[in-house]
Amino acid sequence: MDLKNSTILITGGTSGIGLELVKQLTDLGSTIIVTGRKADALAETKKQFPNVFTFQSDVSKAIDIEQLYLDVTSQFPNLNIIINNAGLMRLIDLQDTSLDLENINVEIATNLTGTIQMVHQFLPHLLKQKSAGIVNVSSGIAFMSYSSAPVYSATKAGVRAYTQALRLQLEGTNVKVFEMIPPGVKTKLQDDWIKQPNDSMMMNADEMVKVAIKGLLADKKELKPFVISIIKLAARIFPNTLLNFGHREFKAIKKLQKEKLS
Ligand SMILES: NC(=O)c1ccc[n+]([C@@H]2O[C@H](COP(=O)([O-])OP(=O)(O)OC[C@H]3O[C@@H](n4cnc5c(N)ncnc54)[C@H](OP(=O)(O)O)[C@@H]3O)[C@@H](O)[C@H]2O)c1
Repeated sequence: MDLKNSTILITGGTSGIGLELVKQLTDLGSTIIVTGRKADALAETKKQFPNVFTFQSDVSKAIDIEQLYLDVTSQFPNLNIIINNAGLMRLIDLQDTSLDLENINVEIATNLTGTIQMVHQFLPHLLKQKSAGIVNVSSGIAFMSYSSAPVYSATKAGVRAYTQALRLQLEGTNVKVFEMIPPGVKTKLQDDWIKQPNDSMMMNADEMVKVAIKGLLADKKELKPFVISIIKLAARIFPNTLLNFGHREFKAIKKLQKEKLS
């Protein structure tokens, strides 16, 4: 993809991977539009990168997506790339009865339905551009469910499946479909977890985004660092070992929670 002359909409561009995308894509000369739920975070992003355009919009709300589409396509008719990056990752104990039916669905509404509805809303516009792209952000967890974040795991496997089907259906059109597949990355994603991920196993956001941009420039359909290829292979060869390795974390978290209560 030509990123220099592109107009790119990034959902959830006020923190972590999204904010790093803003930085690196701005450096390349792209026109950047950023969304997020929090007005103060959007204002901070605008302060840091005065050339970007910000819109307060919640991807988990269909009405926000419809309004975003009207606002963005009228102000930026050349919009040609959308990056569905906004996401939440919650630590969920499936035996926790305090989560009601609405609440248990929040990550699905954001990570999965949000991505699907964004694509559905913007696709007709993208199909009219000379060259266009859709980047959906999944995760290494799409290959191996992570028991501490069961709903998140389901959403990321869903994003991967949806993105593969979308790519096939758009074959032969002007819209290229990419899947960004980050491993663990140092961001605010798990800031409210009682146990933080092991820093030494996490990638820096700038490195992840460098890999993604290199892949986008070369039209690689999967934007992923080498460690994801290892996870993908391991998930095929010894899936249970990988699942149980991740599940050790859930057991450690439960123990911590118990200790805190006693
Ligand atoms: N960090 C990792 O280890 C990792 C690994 C694999 C995949 N990923 C994926 O990478 C993406 C970015 O995550 P991150 O790690 O950069 O997390 P982050 O630092 O927490 O950033 C998340 C961004 O999404 C926005 N957001 C959350 N809910 C939203 C909603 N309903 N509507 C619009 N914006 C929303 C947040 O802003 P507001 O709160 O203001 O809305 C924020 O800008 C996610 O899809 C995540 O699943 C991350």
